[in-house]
Amino acid sequence: IGKRVIYYQEISSTNDVAKSLDVEEGTVIIADRQARGRGRLNREWISPEGGLWLSVVLKPKVEPQDIPKIVFLGAIGVVRMLEELSIPGRIKWPNDVLVNFKKISGILTEKVGEKVILGIGVNVNNDAPENGIAVKDVLNRKVDLVEAFKTLLENLDELYEIYLESPETIVELARELMILNVPVKVIGDGEITGVAEGIDEDGRLILRLDSGEVRKILYGDVSLRFL
Ligand code: BTN
Repeated sequence: IGKRVIYYQEISSTNDVAKSLDVEEGTVIIADRQARGRGRLNREWISPEGGLWLSVVLKPKVEPQDIPKIVFLGAIGVVRMLEELSIPGRIKWPNDVLVNFKKISGILTEKVGEKVILGIGVNVNNDAPENGIAVKDVLNRKVDLVEAFKTLLENLDELYEIYLESPETIVELARELMILNVPVKVIGDGEITGVAEGIDEDGRLILRLDSGEVRKILYGDVSLRFL
């Protein structure tokens, strides 16, 4: 990952460019700014200069149930990058990295043909949106963005090797970093509340309802709120 990096000052969205380009596996698209950065569930992702906005083009043989593992791989990579800066990040299922319960990073994975685009956004030296947080807020100083980018790529490369050999290991690593045993509300078609007890081998959220019933929540068009 990262043998080839394509850099733009400004583009619409690194995910969109990654989707449209015919490039080899491991190619990374990165931009200083995105004019139309996207988040999950058709949300806008504000991407001013100072943050890390990038997409990795992967070409693994995936079944639909493998996609959450690719998302986790990205989130673990971000947590490890933050660790290098002595910032303790945790994963909020399914695709966020939080610091002090505030969002510092989000992952947007999209599958097109044989390509899986792993889009990663991290608030670093930019002003984070409301309710979010950036690396500079945690450390009270700005950091070297290129260094952070390099560290992230190294971690992603290592994690992708692990994923290819043993996808279940990625789920285990993600589980250790996940915020669990907290009351949550899952918002999808309807709303359900319960306690997020864990994730299963495919990365589904194990939710214990107040009635005691246990439900598994598929990664998909759902979002999670801590209560
Ligand atoms: C989310 O939290 O909903 C996911 C946010 C993903 C943002 C990244 S920034 C790089 C890549 N390009 C995009 O348009 N989105 C992802």
